[in-house]
Amino acid sequence: MSEEQTIREVMEKVQPPQLPPHRSHDPSNNLKRSDPFQFGSRYLEQGDNVFEFNAWDHVEPDDEFKEFAETQYEKQRAAPVSDFDKNRFNNDPAKWWNLFYKNNTANFFKDRKWLRQEFPVLDEVTKKGAGRQVVLEVGAGAGNTAFPLIRNNENEELMVHACDFSKYAVQVMRESEYYNPKYMVADVWDVAAERTETEDSLPPGLTDGSVDVVILIFIFSALNPKQWDRALHNIHRLLKPGGRVLFRDYGRGDLAQVRFKKGRYMEENFYVRGDGTRVYFFDKEELVNIWSRWTPEKGLQLGSGDEPSETQPADANAPFEVVHMGVDRRLLVNRSSKVKMYRCWMQGHFRKREGPAAIGQDDA
Ligand SMILES: C[S@@+](CC[C@H](N)C(=O)[O-])C[C@H]1O[C@@H](n2cnc3c(N)ncnc32)[C@H](O)[C@@H]1O
Repeated sequence: MSEEQTIREVMEKVQPPQLPPHRSHDPSNNLKRSDPFQFGSRYLEQGDNVFEFNAWDHVEPDDEFKEFAETQYEKQRAAPVSDFDKNRFNNDPAKWWNLFYKNNTANFFKDRKWLRQEFPVLDEVTKKGAGRQVVLEVGAGAGNTAFPLIRNNENEELMVHACDFSKYAVQVMRESEYYNPKYMVADVWDVAAERTETEDSLPPGLTDGSVDVVILIFIFSALNPKQWDRALHNIHRLLKPGGRVLFRDYGRGDLAQVRFKKGRYMEENFYVRGDGTRVYFFDKEELVNIWSRWTPEKGLQLGSGDEPSETQPADANAPFEVVHMGVDRRLLVNRSSKVKMYRCWMQGHFRKREGPAAIGQDDA
């Protein structure tokens, strides 16, 4: 049986755990949705037909699937990417994203309609009369976050900087019918850029301490873990004291990780896709450690050893604080092909501390 067939069979057979009935929703509501609809409120309960809806919230993978995932990781580790290819994919990652945007249309990613619900800060900055608000979206791609944001904006003084290191992605945004230069500017920028003697590492038009909100949606996973430190430096420099970081990305154990075949593993939890783009799968403790303990001087404070570490005590003087860090687990169901997919995303809200850690912006 091919690897693809094996995975498909596993997805057909998975038996997701079902909660005792009516644990968390109103039993009179048999559509299992609140009105207005809220994400995160559809629990899979005993007696439910899993194929009745195309998504269920908060579903933990069953033990059999977890075991299957572990055997997959073993196979992936046993057949890593060659050193030659690792260099190819790590040396010029923008090249592979450029190819991606040349080959895919602007509709490749879905518009992020859930954004405001998940990140109420975005409601605040787009409210009428909210005053001058600067939002930087990093790795903005085809604009699927930036465009919904400006389409629903009522704040005359909002400015969204949508940056991506792929010049083709930036071109896609600039050529979009929704591109409105009054509220948005799209620019080429590498979040992991290093400052040199001749060039600063910040995006065009932005300076130290000039940004209210940084949005990171499925971009950190595209970085090599060795680039996280540089990215944090740049984001820290750009944010105003008290400024926010809104983060969403792939979580460990997501089906996308489990289904990687041989020849895609680069490092633990870090893979290259068939199109040459890279992807990392995060763990909750790891993200808490990154965002609550990084300092410009000491860099990342990740636990030592290969095993996932317990969350280290947060450093009260660290430049960022973790306001919220959540794991979003869902079971997605393809009702026609009858496959069930365990998905896992990480969602975080971080804040740049005011006070001594925020002083001395020039920390690059
Ligand atoms: C998975 S896509 C997500 C796009 C968009 N945020 C969304 O959710 O629709 C990752 C994006 O990050 C961009 N990217 C990857 N590494 C980057 C870097 N070092 N600096 C800026 N953008 C980067 C890629 O070009 C790509 O557009």
